[in-house]
Amino acid sequence: MDAMAFHRCADYQALSEKASECLIRAITQNPQATICVATGGTPLLTYSMFVSKVKQRNIDISQITFVKLDEWLNIPLNADGTCETFLQTHIIQPLNIAPERFISFRSQNVDDKECQRVIELITQNGGIDLCVLGLGKNGHLGLNEPGDSLEPACHITVLDEHTRQHAMIKDSEQPVECGITLGLREIMAAREILFLVAGERKQSAFSKLQEKKVSCQTPSSFLWMHQNVHCLYDSTRFTPNLEN
Ligand code: PGA
Repeated sequence: MDAMAFHRCADYQALSEKASECLIRAITQNPQATICVATGGTPLLTYSMFVSKVKQRNIDISQITFVKLDEWLNIPLNADGTCETFLQTHIIQPLNIAPERFISFRSQNVDDKECQRVIELITQNGGIDLCVLGLGKNGHLGLNEPGDSLEPACHITVLDEHTRQHAMIKDSEQPVECGITLGLREIMAAREILFLVAGERKQSAFSKLQEKKVSCQTPSSFLWMHQNVHCLYDSTRFTPNLEN
């Protein structure tokens, strides 16, 4: 049996509903969980539903730590399109998360020491319990971009042409050319992965993933080597080759 379980969702709403329940389960089962969160259009509704449920159900999240998966570089952290602004707006501020409970890359004047700093904080928190990921149009995971080879660990990366057109940054005042990201090493070390596939123009990346071949040209394909991945996909957009 595959360690990647595919879950067909009727639409984006249903996907978000299911994903938000997975998040709720993670924090209720482990009130000290460390949760790594992707940004972008895919998890937007999931986070909004998650925040509503935490509030409605009065769940104590004071010991939960959130980790930012990646960040665009060389734009101010508080600019509109950053992953920071996204997470502050959709999770951190609405849930009143204490600053020490949010592990987050800086976006300016960073070098490899920033990776070290973030990795140490994750380690001090006992590692990532649940990692929420989206699929890039080019098959990327976080900002682990396709190529002939991959950097295994957290690193600074030059963005692929597709990624430079991402909705979050394409209208940025300064062109965004680089990013910082957890590497596949940190992602694969997460105890559980919630992999969300939704949005336009991703059928080709999704089909490639389902070939079940691990390739640096499709960084998301490394998830086949993880033991505990739940892939939720929006069936209004994607036709699966595999289902279980
Ligand atoms: P999206 O981005 O959720 O906005 O489609 C996903 C990604 O590029 O990783």
